[in-house]
Amino acid sequence: MENRNLISGEWRGALDGSTFGVCDAATGREIARVPHCHEMEALEAVEGAANALGAWRSRSLEERAQFLRAIAAALRSHEDQFAHVITAENGKPLSEGRGEVAYSADYFSSAADEALQLHAINIRSRSELRVLRAHPEPIGVVAAITPWNFPLAMMARKTAPALAAGCTQVIKPAELTPLTALLFARVLADLGLPPGVVNVVTGDPAAIGQAWLDDGRVRKLSFTGSTRVGRLLMRGAAEQVVRLSLELGGHAPFIVLRDANVAAAVDAAVAGKFRAAGQTCVCPNRFLIADEIHDEFVERFVTAARLLPVGRGLDLATRVGPLISDEAVARMRRHIDDALAKGATLRTGGSTIAVEGCVDRFFAPTVVTEASSRMVCFQEETFGPLAPIARFHDESHAIQIANETPFGLAAYVFSEDSTRLAAVSEAVNCGIVGANTGIISDAYAPFGGRGWSGFGREGGRWGIEEYLSWKYVCTGVHG
Ligand code: SIN
Repeated sequence: MENRNLISGEWRGALDGSTFGVCDAATGREIARVPHCHEMEALEAVEGAANALGAWRSRSLEERAQFLRAIAAALRSHEDQFAHVITAENGKPLSEGRGEVAYSADYFSSAADEALQLHAINIRSRSELRVLRAHPEPIGVVAAITPWNFPLAMMARKTAPALAAGCTQVIKPAELTPLTALLFARVLADLGLPPGVVNVVTGDPAAIGQAWLDDGRVRKLSFTGSTRVGRLLMRGAAEQVVRLSLELGGHAPFIVLRDANVAAAVDAAVAGKFRAAGQTCVCPNRFLIADEIHDEFVERFVTAARLLPVGRGLDLATRVGPLISDEAVARMRRHIDDALAKGATLRTGGSTIAVEGCVDRFFAPTVVTEASSRMVCFQEETFGPLAPIARFHDESHAIQIANETPFGLAAYVFSEDSTRLAAVSEAVNCGIVGANTGIISDAYAPFGGRGWSGFGREGGRWGIEEYLSWKYVCTGVHG
């Protein structure tokens, strides 16, 4: 297992030799130590990326697409290895780790297809005295700061479009899950990706992020993580006018209309809510259920939640793994306690479950009813396996509750009436809607949010656009 950083094609430690520990998310035991880098190593990575830029952007579209296809194939052929590393450091069930590898490979396949479309375009001018031609140029050296909840996929959705566009990249993975990123770097190096095209630096997030924003050669930064950090990055990006893509917190409403197929809605709720133990930005966070079907939905949902096996991700039966940290457990407790103090009813869960030989971070899937907008769980993202349920009388009330947050990443709507499904999907203020489904992520679609959920899109042609700087050449025609 590679624990060193990849900078300019070389495997390196921190300049001062310091390291930090990476733990198994289930047992809490240290499984590796990786370099604890700071500003200097971050700048060396930029130097490497800057040196590699000219040659990489000059590669033909077909050559770049070939690399992207090769990366997709390598991820698929290393699925088992990646899934085990993801499960070890993140804790998610192995089946979800495998799903994440497939999802990541799709970003590279999608980017390979799109790369072939990145040619110059003639534009019809209204004047006969000039000819216009627009060129999609790479924005330059780009940075990625990636989160722990999808250690591979969030990197894939930043690296694939960057390489397709002709950019070179510096990456800082989350401190809790750097091993997946280092394995990814090893795969890229083994494929013969030229030195410096992708560089991975682990260590001090503030020092590395600030170094990249201040450098001037980094022309774009893509970040997935909290709204709090997103705001800091926006401030930091101002001086050098660095372009940003920010995929920040979510607070997704899950709206079930009275004419919904309740059994299907419950299946979707379980799949969406408890995936990654509730630790995704698109997890349903506020359940809004029509009066007429509320009791049936609650009964079925609580029954299904109770049946979900909680345990170590490596146990094949597990559907819900541990939370990532003690802070995540404390936040679950705070949200539950607040809800119960303000009148909610606990239907199942509510505490951690002991798993032999493991940390006390395995939280039982938890459902509370009689939730309301006064409760913290309806105001803030829980990022854990808590499903708070409120009832509503009419659709306009549900839409009003759904939209009363500054976040706007995802929403879910369930109805058997296609007109109402479309109307509510249109009325919710967010970037992604799951209409009669709880699983919405797709590498070919423009993933991203609005408001406090950030801006910029990842996936498909939209993801690549974020890494391009269009230049048009206006050529004068002289008679
Ligand atoms: C996220 O949690 O930020 C991403 C979730 C996904 O892509 O499905």
